[in-house]
Amino acid sequence: MHDRLAFLSLRLSIFAALGLSAIACGSTVDGGGEGGAGSGASSSTSTSSSSSSGGSSGCVGGTPILLADGTDSGYIRCDDGTIHRAAAVACDPTIQAAACEGTEMYKDCTSDADCTAKPHGKCIHHDGNFEVPGPSCGCVYSCANDAECGADSVCVCQGVVENDVSWSRCSAIAKCATDADCASGECGITSFNDGCFQQIGLACRADTDTCRVDADCMAGSSCATLPYSTVGEAGTFNCETQNCAIGRPLLVAGAARTAPASNRVDWILAEITPDTETLDPAVRTALAEAWTEIAALEHASVASFARFTLQLMALGAPPELLFAAQQAAADEVEHARVGYALASRYADRPIGPSKLDLTGVPLDTDLRVVLGSLIEEACVGETIGAAEALALAGMVRDPVLGQVHARIAEDEQRHAELAWRTLRFLLAGADEDTRRFARAAFDRAIEAASADPSIRRAVVAEDVGLLSSKQLGALRRQALRDVVRPCADALLAPVAAPIVSADLNA
Ligand SMILES: [Fe+2]
Ligand SMILES: [Fe+2]
Repeated sequence: MHDRLAFLSLRLSIFAALGLSAIACGSTVDGGGEGGAGSGASSSTSTSSSSSSGGSSGCVGGTPILLADGTDSGYIRCDDGTIHRAAAVACDPTIQAAACEGTEMYKDCTSDADCTAKPHGKCIHHDGNFEVPGPSCGCVYSCANDAECGADSVCVCQGVVENDVSWSRCSAIAKCATDADCASGECGITSFNDGCFQQIGLACRADTDTCRVDADCMAGSSCATLPYSTVGEAGTFNCETQNCAIGRPLLVAGAARTAPASNRVDWILAEITPDTETLDPAVRTALAEAWTEIAALEHASVASFARFTLQLMALGAPPELLFAAQQAAADEVEHARVGYALASRYADRPIGPSKLDLTGVPLDTDLRVVLGSLIEEACVGETIGAAEALALAGMVRDPVLGQVHARIAEDEQRHAELAWRTLRFLLAGADEDTRRFARAAFDRAIEAASADPSIRRAVVAEDVGLLSSKQLGALRRQALRDVVRPCADALLAPVAAPIVSADLNA
């Protein structure tokens, strides 16, 4: 499905932006392996609920969830399928996955000794999938207790929620640790893929929650709690939809923030007139929904670049990076106009953004915070965005859509190059500790982005660019393996040549 030569050109463009030789990188595009780091960690479940008990009526019944060895997990499953955590119990950190054999076509690691970013690292083998059949190796990490996951995180034992991950893993959301922390007496678990990352965690159930189970939500959304919600209060359970697509997200506490849609015409680019006549009504509706989400993300990217510009200034960036960041923000305004135009044409009504809530958007200028978000949002996020747009440009049938994707791909490739040049600037003269921090940030971001997104599309149709969760996951893993990982390795290699400021325009 993917144009692998196009991915090679993307990688080479980033290498050129960094002034690196492609030969310096030991990776080959023909690796053929399926996953980057975290291969096999695909996770596509939404909330654990399977039936509705209606709103926030509380837990009725309750069956202790037992671990594979028959011991109590500390979690209770209510009759409606929701799960809460009564007690913090130690988890088995064993990772039940085949070890890397060393003969795989592509390897991010060869032994467990290479997986040191977090405790309980294992270098696992993955066979690949239907898209990319080659075998590969990548690091994954487990946990034994909450303390190992750091502040504001908990260790969710393997087997508590069904998410296709056969080991215990740290969650990024921990509004509570056990039921005792909640006024409702119910510290509920959420497991939801927002389209970027699998968001697993714990939050107190409350009367103010707008849902309790998936059945309380409309089709296509799930009852979950996110660090930030565009539809409800942060840390409460709301009907959430997958909210991640092309470009640089405005991440706040790990979740993409966007403006809700509104009825307005001033964001609609008149010249965008896709074919709507020959489309099946269901396909047209699905396209309207998809482009409304994409447009909102592109719109939020403008704010992301505004924040990025301020951070660059605080860290003493050279003028060419500031200039490129301003140009990128302008590109994102245009991407949003294109996106809202497509959404409006497919929906046959005007769609645009309403006000973007910037409450609580941090402006942190600490080097490591900026490095971490640059790696997650841009070096990984925008490189994947460019790769997705490249693939879609060659896939869709409507020439108007093809031109849109090609233009976005071209712009996102430039944004990805900017991200990597900025990374090089931030790492110039950095000590080994900071470089190790950056390597660990890449490991985390690559592992998180390697999962299949849990998009529950009513329609999957390649010829209009509506890809399935598996197709998107395969495409992202290919971009991670063929572009992100080699570029990160080349830039962060301990033996990398010294970087001088004169190289920044290379
Ligand atoms: Fe972008
Ligand atoms: Fe964009």
